[in-house]
Amino acid sequence: MNSVSLSFAERTQPVTSTGSLLGESVAMREVFRLIDRVGPTEASVLLTGESGSGKELAAKSIHQCSARRDGPFLAINCGAIPAGLIEAELFGDETASPGGAVSVHAGLFARAQGGTLLLDEVTEMPLEMQTRLLRVLETRRFYPVGTNMEIISDVRVIAATNRCPLQAVQNGQLREDLLYRLAVFPVALPPLRSRGNDVELLAEHFLAELNALGRTQKRLSAVARMTLRQHSWPGNVRELKNCVERAYILGDTVLELAPLIQGSTRDAATDRERLNIRVGSRIHDMERSLIEATLDYFKGNKRRAADALGCSLKTLYNKLNGYSQSQECANS
Ligand SMILES: Nc1ncnc2c1ncn2[C@@H]1O[C@H](COP(=O)(O)OP(=O)(O)OP(=O)(O)O)[C@@H](O)[C@H]1O
Ligand SMILES: [Mg+2]
Repeated sequence: MNSVSLSFAERTQPVTSTGSLLGESVAMREVFRLIDRVGPTEASVLLTGESGSGKELAAKSIHQCSARRDGPFLAINCGAIPAGLIEAELFGDETASPGGAVSVHAGLFARAQGGTLLLDEVTEMPLEMQTRLLRVLETRRFYPVGTNMEIISDVRVIAATNRCPLQAVQNGQLREDLLYRLAVFPVALPPLRSRGNDVELLAEHFLAELNALGRTQKRLSAVARMTLRQHSWPGNVRELKNCVERAYILGDTVLELAPLIQGSTRDAATDRERLNIRVGSRIHDMERSLIEATLDYFKGNKRRAADALGCSLKTLYNKLNGYSQSQECANS
C-alpha cells in the first residue's frame, strides 16, 4: 500500500472541525508524531487513555493517515454487546428468511473490509472471544458463525481501553497473547490536565464551532479562562466540550464556566498535583514554588514543565538560572 504524507506533527495551528485531534502541547505533539509514524503502516495499535481523552478520535486520525482512508472506519464497543451476540456481531452469521432461504448476515469484519475496525473497551470482551479474535488476527481469516465459509480479512484492527492493559492481564480480564498482538504499537493519550495551554485552545475551538453554527459572537470571560486552567478535567476533552456547550446555551455574550463545574464534577488533582500557598506569600516566592513543584511533577522534564506553565522553555531556563544565582549569593 502507498504511504500518505498527511502530517499531524507539522501542524502548528488548530485544524478543521471535522474530527481532527487538536493540540499544541508537548504531550500531544508526541501523540501526533506517533500517529504520523504508525498511520501509514498496517500495524495494530493499542490506544490507552482516560475516558474522554480522545481515543476514538485518535483511531479515526490513524485511519485517515493510512492508505485505507477511503475505506470504512467502523467501531464496536466490546463492553456494550452481550457475550452471546458478540461473535455474530464481529464475524457475521447465517440467517434464515421466513421463506426458508438462508443468507449470511455480514458482521463488522466483513463490513470493514478494506478499512479499519476499532475494538473499543477491548478488555471487556469475553475471554473465549478474545481467543477467537487472536486467531483471526494471526491467520487473517474468519468464518461467519455456523458456516464453514472462509473469508480473508483485509481489516486493520485498532484497539482502545481506558484501563491499564497490564493490570487487565493480571486481573485475568485480557489475554496476554492478545495484548501483545494488539499492542504492536501502543499510543497513550495524555489526560487533558497535563496538556497545558491545550485546554484554552480546545475551549476556544469548541466555542468557535458553536458561534459559527449559531451565527453568534459569544466569548469566554476572563474568570472562565482562569477556571479552564484551574479545573482538573477528570472527564477530559469530553467534559470540556460539554461544559463549553452548556455555557454557550446559558450565556448571552460573555460566558462563565465555574458555576457549571462546581459540585458537578470531582476534582481529580492528587496531592502531587497540588501546591499549598499561604495567603500573603510574595509573588516571587509563589512563582518559584509553582515552577519547582511543576518540574518535580514532570520529573525534571523542562520542556513539559514549561508547556504546562504556559511559558517558553527559554523563560523557564532564565527563571531557574535566576534562582540558582540568588541561592549562590545567599550562600556566599
Ligand atoms: N484533541 C482533541 N481535539 C478535538 N476534539 C477532541 C480531542 N480529543 C477529544 N475530542 C473530542 O472529545 C470527545 C471525546 O473524545 P473520544 O470519544 O475520542 O474519547 P475516548 O477516549 O474514546 O472516550 P471513552 O473512553 O469514554 O470512549 C469527542 O467529542 C471528541 O471529538
Ligand atoms: Mg471511546
